[in-house]
Amino acid sequence: MSDTKVISLSELQEHTKKDNLYVLLHGKVYSVSKFIDEHPGGDEVILAEAGKDATEAFEDVGHSDEARDILKDLLVGSFEEGSALPTKTASSPNLSAPVAQTASNASYFLPLAALAGYFAWRFYSSA
Ligand code: HEM
Repeated sequence: MSDTKVISLSELQEHTKKDNLYVLLHGKVYSVSKFIDEHPGGDEVILAEAGKDATEAFEDVGHSDEARDILKDLLVGSFEEGSALPTKTASSPNLSAPVAQTASNASYFLPLAALAGYFAWRFYSSA
């Protein structure tokens, strides 16, 4: 295989339709449209990864060597180096997570501090 086509992030993200679908696996871009109807795991799981880095989802399933062989026929090219990967971890919901964490810590801490204060008061006032 001497496929040297380089696919950019925006090109990858443009191919999200079932009949024109790219996924990124281990830094290589694959066109899955002609295989998606034959996929033993169903079309939905692949559609969910359309235009994205599907490496984690693909490896989590523990695909066989046979599955990896199929990929050779679907190769479009390699992913443009330096492009930001459209992984789930890179999305904004993550940024709000620490804020939510802080809020829930405070909502535990305040009633606990009040309770501790109450018992301290009971202890000292009864002594
Ligand atoms: C895009 C390239 C992919 C190819 C060529 C491919 C190929 C295959 C093949 C041949 C199998 C049969 C079992 C095996 O040989 O390992 C399989 C099963 C499966 N695949 Fe994929 N797959 C791809 C992507 C994905 C993705 C992105 C997911 C997302 C989670 C996925 C989920 C599954 C699941 C859940 C099964 C198990 C089905 C079952 O045994 O009930 N596959 N795949």
